[in-house]
Amino acid sequence: MSDIQQEIARLSEEINRHNYYYYMLDDPKISDYDFDQLLQKLIDLERQYPEYVRPDSPTQRVGGTVTKQFASAAHIYPMLSLGNTYSEGDLLEFDTRVRGLLNGPVEYVCELKYDGVAISLIYEHGVLVRAVTRGDGTRGDVVTANVKTIGSVPLSLTGDYPDLLEARGEIIMPYDSFNALNADREEIGEQPFANPRNAASGSLKLQNSADVAKRGLSFKLYYALGENLPENNHFARLRKLHEWGFRFPDVMEKVTDLSGVMDFIRVWDEKRKELPYPIDGIVIKVNDFAQQQQVGSTAKSPRWAIAYKFKAERVSTPLLSVDFQVGRTGIITPVANLKPVSLAGTVVKRATLNNRDFIRDMDIREGDCLFVEKGGEIIPKIVGVDVERRQPDAVPVPFVTVCPVCGTPLQQNEGEAGVFCPNELHCAPQIRGKLEHFIARKAMNIDSLGEGKIEVLYAQGLVSNAADLYDLTYDRLFGLEKVMEDENGKTKTLSFKEKTTINILKGLEQSKSVPFERVLYALGIRFVGEVTAKKLARRFKTIDAIANATKEELVEVEDVGERVAESIIQYFNNTENLEMVMRLKAAGLRFEMGEESRAASDRLAGMSIIVSGVFSVPRDEIKLIIEQNGGKNVSSISKNTTYVLAGDKMGLEKRKKAEALGIPIISEEEFMEMLRER
Ligand code: IVH
Repeated sequence: MSDIQQEIARLSEEINRHNYYYYMLDDPKISDYDFDQLLQKLIDLERQYPEYVRPDSPTQRVGGTVTKQFASAAHIYPMLSLGNTYSEGDLLEFDTRVRGLLNGPVEYVCELKYDGVAISLIYEHGVLVRAVTRGDGTRGDVVTANVKTIGSVPLSLTGDYPDLLEARGEIIMPYDSFNALNADREEIGEQPFANPRNAASGSLKLQNSADVAKRGLSFKLYYALGENLPENNHFARLRKLHEWGFRFPDVMEKVTDLSGVMDFIRVWDEKRKELPYPIDGIVIKVNDFAQQQQVGSTAKSPRWAIAYKFKAERVSTPLLSVDFQVGRTGIITPVANLKPVSLAGTVVKRATLNNRDFIRDMDIREGDCLFVEKGGEIIPKIVGVDVERRQPDAVPVPFVTVCPVCGTPLQQNEGEAGVFCPNELHCAPQIRGKLEHFIARKAMNIDSLGEGKIEVLYAQGLVSNAADLYDLTYDRLFGLEKVMEDENGKTKTLSFKEKTTINILKGLEQSKSVPFERVLYALGIRFVGEVTAKKLARRFKTIDAIANATKEELVEVEDVGERVAESIIQYFNNTENLEMVMRLKAAGLRFEMGEESRAASDRLAGMSIIVSGVFSVPRDEIKLIIEQNGGKNVSSISKNTTYVLAGDKMGLEKRKKAEALGIPIISEEEFMEMLRER
């Protein structure tokens, strides 16, 4: 083994050890920052010596593999599902059946029923070689690269593991990750996921594993398969898997009778509210393998295990009226105003009716009493109509045919459930929505303007598209006022005083140096999110090239499919959009890739630069710019370091060390300036 290989092995081992402390034992021994440093070192080494990258390298967690189409693979053992029960009576039946088939005492294991997506993990000689979704139970999709980014999935095993092991469990999305993801999606006008399960399932099917790595997924082990595996019962076997590197289930209990099972259910039906991830029930398994065999399985599910599903709390309450809301992309969402009713600890007054098909499929009529449920402790959901309480002459709830705000006839695209107002440039909520998107943090980042101020500017007739923002002057802004009402009916006055006015103008001025890819994203072209905008900008370099690109050229870009390409073409076919882009260009916004990120140069040749902290663009991008301009990214400070490029929140230790060694610390602005110098 060469020195480099040894160093790669040593770093991998150290990182794996810390991953183990963090994910398996919940007991980190170093800070996130120090961990990132170690990982960065390994990434740098592997980049320099790609021939030494190992399939189980911890750098795989960062992702980057792109899968256009997932291959399918047969399961070694079929992936069965579980029978569901909802009552104590059902469980009694299960227990009686099991006991009837066994002579003697039985021990059950009670586990949480994780609400995510089932996954099968195949380890050959201790290395994760394949991750396959459940699919139809016989074959599933191969999602290995994506699954490798999940921290709680061991990439390799330790100890006396068998040559071949299949570990099964659930990929789940904890509530924290789910909420953050949906907030991001709403910000860019994408439909939020309905629940963490859908979000987990959607994430597993993303094409770029680097995007999966950011989704905060987690793996929950619940079963192991293989030939001649050690131990003769389920509980002990999972302990064994823990020795090999898996996390042991957070909650798992052995009980000897049905009353033990019922106690476990009662406790967790309540305590699940405190769990950081969703569960939708409890799974009860016969612990002993010989007894499992005796009880047997049907073709579909084992007879030795059963799922008890928690009941969602449900009430029935009258529908008072329906509001039709217009979203920023024009989609019309019907919302039910309900007679206030108390449900699982909160009072429910409103609930979404989703779309026209939902009202029709449920046959919701005026004055109906609706069943409202709160599962998963999140948002109340309408699950049906209390037909017994229906008035005999009740008529179906009508759906609006014209936009409730601007009166334009509504449209519906083939294959889509949503009805929308096509008047995107002249319908108030859509105009405001576009403006809000334009100024958002990830777009032009004009934080001196916000939703409230945009509303004032729009109401006063000062702005109706992004280009109008750059025509604002001190005189037009100063002294504007609006009385606003908050949710509780309290009024407050928003007024543009001197400081506010100056800050708005300053924010607009600063936005003129926002890089092209973010300007492109800020335009709010349907289906062009942050990542797609970046890829388009890198590929085409200028707005004119994008506007003139053919559909064939557009779909060549990764992540751009027919739907996205058509939307881009439609955007640039519209004269009002073209005119706005021209005015934005004239105002000085950047509609071309900047020199610094476009042209390769040797301006940084011979320099070793450390990038540390948070920047206005992702850190990887800064690193790419360094490389493209001949510089070298290094991860630890030494006397040979040329610069420390410091963003926000740079570690204090690093700053001290740089100062001690006399290494210049430069800001993002200074760095960009260096690249611009002629
Ligand atoms: S055991 C043969 N245990 O629930 C044993 N399943 O239909 C099969 N699930 O698709 C599964 N938590 O994805 C088991 N603790 C747990 C589980 C669990 C969630 C899922 C699993 C399966 C479905 C049951």
